[in-house]
Amino acid sequence: MSLLKQSIPTKLLDDNGMRLDGRRLDELRPTKLEMGTLKRADGSAYIEQGKNKILVAVYGPRELHPHHLALPDRCLLRCIYRMASFSVEERKSPAPGRREIELSKVIREAIEPALFLEEYPRAGIDVYIQILQADGGTRCASITAASLALADAGIPMRDIVVACAAGKVEDQVVLDIDDVEDKYGTGDMPVAMMPRKNEITLLQLDGIFSPEEFQKALELAQQGCKQLYELQRSVIKEKYKTIREEVGGDEKKEK
Ligand code: CDP
Repeated sequence: MSLLKQSIPTKLLDDNGMRLDGRRLDELRPTKLEMGTLKRADGSAYIEQGKNKILVAVYGPRELHPHHLALPDRCLLRCIYRMASFSVEERKSPAPGRREIELSKVIREAIEPALFLEEYPRAGIDVYIQILQADGGTRCASITAASLALADAGIPMRDIVVACAAGKVEDQVVLDIDDVEDKYGTGDMPVAMMPRKNEITLLQLDGIFSPEEFQKALELAQQGCKQLYELQRSVIKEKYKTIREEVGGDEKKEK
């Protein structure tokens, strides 16, 4: 057994109501977003949310292989969520497990409403999500990064999709639970949404929430999504600012 193994916490909130990592109840983990990380992908993004580290590569819309999967009226979106063996405390088998297959589906369904799949019949879009380090909330962080990678690939979208979980620890509703809070807390509610359209594209619930707690958790998760959306926007704007400067620079050179 590893010496680094997590000890079981007796309390998830201290006497001042602060969480184990020093966060307030309604505070997100420090988050870093990057787009265009991988040069060989059509689009890519990287997210660090707390200790989560996730890389996403997007290809397409492109010819679909194998051809027999092609859909006559729309594009096939494939999301492939995979955890590296070294991404979690107990070595994860490299073979895709049931959880990875389920999360791939959940992530696809959260992203799909934002895409104009009917515009690319018989084609395919592949979204590869590689979890390099996991610390709770990887499905949400993957959705946030995947939609940034889709934007990086220049794929038109109705809105960007952003995701964040709320949860319950010691009977308090908290934002953006980490692995310890997920394991030893009493509730987890991942939410994905299209923030400008104000439409929810994923809502899962694990644990027991009263109607009031449910409402509070949903509002808190949406607030978290809106903060992450601002981060996504600033990364996209930065990319296009850089491109504009480069293009502008070329124009000057031509003159
Ligand atoms: O990551 P997310 O919260 O979306 O999904 P989960 O199934 O609720 O997993 C919660 C956390 O459990 C992950 O983020 C990992 O930190 C951890 N986990 C693990 O330690 N070993 C696994 N084989 C799978 C997950």
